[in-house]
Order: sequence, then C-alpha cells, then structure tokens
Amino acid sequence: MSPADPSASRIDLAAIQLEEVGMTFPTSSVPLRVLEAVSLAVRPGEFVSLLGPSGCGKSTVLRLVADILVPTDGRITVNGESPETARRRRAFGFVFQDATLLAWRSTLENVLLPLEISGDASRGRERARRLLDLVGLAKFESAYPWQLSGGMRQRVAIARALVTEPRILLMDEPFGALDEITREYMNLELLRIWQATATTIFFVTHSSPEAVFLSDRVVVLGTRPGRVKLDLAVDLPRPRDPALKETVEFARYTAALRRTLVGETRLE
Ligand SMILES: Nc1ncnc2c1ncn2[C@@H]1O[C@H](COP(=O)(O)OP(=O)(O)O)[C@@H](O)[C@H]1O
Ligand SMILES: [Mg+2]
Repeated sequence: MSPADPSASRIDLAAIQLEEVGMTFPTSSVPLRVLEAVSLAVRPGEFVSLLGPSGCGKSTVLRLVADILVPTDGRITVNGESPETARRRRAFGFVFQDATLLAWRSTLENVLLPLEISGDASRGRERARRLLDLVGLAKFESAYPWQLSGGMRQRVAIARALVTEPRILLMDEPFGALDEITREYMNLELLRIWQATATTIFFVTHSSPEAVFLSDRVVVLGTRPGRVKLDLAVDLPRPRDPALKETVEFARYTAALRRTLVGETRLE
C-alpha cells in the first residue's frame, strides 16, 4: 500500500478490488442511487462475506464484479484486470440463490453446460465427474433436478460454477432458501470445497452467523445508498466447527455485526 493512497482497503494484486464505486440506476421517475463510494478488496484465497439488509445493494456489487452491470463511478478490478477481461478469461464462477438448473438435463449435463457454451465439453467430462465427486454427488450424475433436494441442487450449481476452473467464486445468498440444518451442513461443505480448490470466495448473505462462521473477513454494507459500514476481520481458528457458534468469541463477532446492522434496517 502506498502511503499516499487515501483508500485503506487498497492492496496490491487483489483478487477483487473496488475503489470508490458508485451505482445509479435510471428509473421512470428519479434515478436510484444504490451504491456510494464503495471501496473494498479481497485477497487471493480469502473468504470474504458481504453482509447487509435486504435491498442495500449486495447483489448489485456482485453483478458489477461479474461484469453483468457497469458502475456509474469508480473502478473495479478482478485479478488486476477489468471485470470484462476477467469474464472473458473465465476468472470467476457465479452461484445464485436459486440453483437455476435446466430441468431436462441430468446432473452431469448441467455441470457441463458452461463448457458446452464455449465448445469445450468433450474435454470437460472427466473434470465434471471429479467436481461431482468433490461436492458429494458422484452417484447422482444421471439424476434430474426434480430428483434432487434443495441442498443437492445447490451442490450441482457449485460444481457447475467450478467447471471452468475459475480462481474466484462469486456467491449470492446461495443457501438462503435452505432450511437451517441443511444450510449449516452446506456451510461446512463449502468450507471443505474452498480448501480443496484454493479458490477465492466473495459471498453475499444477510445472515450474521453465517458470515462469521464462513469468513476471514466480513464487509457490512449500509443502505440508501449502500456504503461500507464495517470491514471486520474474523480471527477465529480453522477448520471451523459448528460448536464454535456456541462460544463467547463467536457471539462477540455476531454482536458487533448486529450493532452495525441495527439502524441500517428499515421497515418497508
Ligand atoms: N436493474 C435495476 N434497475 C433499477 N433498480 C434496481 C436494479 N437492480 C437493483 N435495483 C434496486 O437497487 C437496490 C439494491 O438491489 P440489490 O442489489 O438487489 O440489493 P440486495 O441484493 O442487497 O437485496 C434495490 O432497491 C433494487 O430495487
Ligand atoms: Mg440480493
């Protein structure tokens, strides 16, 4: 970090870097300012969560990083390059809240989809099988989405996001629709997959306990317009065990996040 640099979050060779990013959506009435001067950085290999109330702009941040949207102000780099270049190089995979699997394709065929789009499917079959094994679905490669539980469908979505061998995974509330026990299990599975693949994970959630349990760092976004309210390093030992959630240290982190979120949440 250069001493003259005004942004404390700027780091060299960041996997993801946002500098003073602003986003305004045009609407039929007044333009909607969603993000204001958002600066944050995710280091290679790090697990960082973006936490905030519903509607504060979390998905917008992820879509900007993924080059689905272009920011109104500021600068974003992914592996030191523009989001557009990173997308072309397949630097990241994206997992949404809904697994968005194609109903008429088997598990294996769903995982192969990103490679088919780029014409690489013939070489990817072995890799897709290895990833299904990694996410615990080796026996389900011929099953169809309707034959899988919600947690299993999200595993397929994770394998599909990893099939192009991205260095970065962008995840937008991937376990938000799962029941609590399945979600806890998927959290553990995700940490195992993260360690096995050595990817960088940028994870959106509105759950403080989930953010603390998973992350090296939690960035809290406030609302109207979204700004970074807190960038909190989570100094808890790994590998993380669910029993950690019953400790005083864990409660201290969730309390700090809760205090930041209170006042940011508005009843609509
Ligand atoms: N394409 C768009 N056009 C207009 N408004 C949008 C668009 N996408 C998101 N918004 C608005 O921006 C705000 C933030 O949305 P979003 O990033 O989805 O929030 P979050 O993911 O934190 O719930 C919301 O008020 C939403 O309605
Ligand atoms: Mg969202």
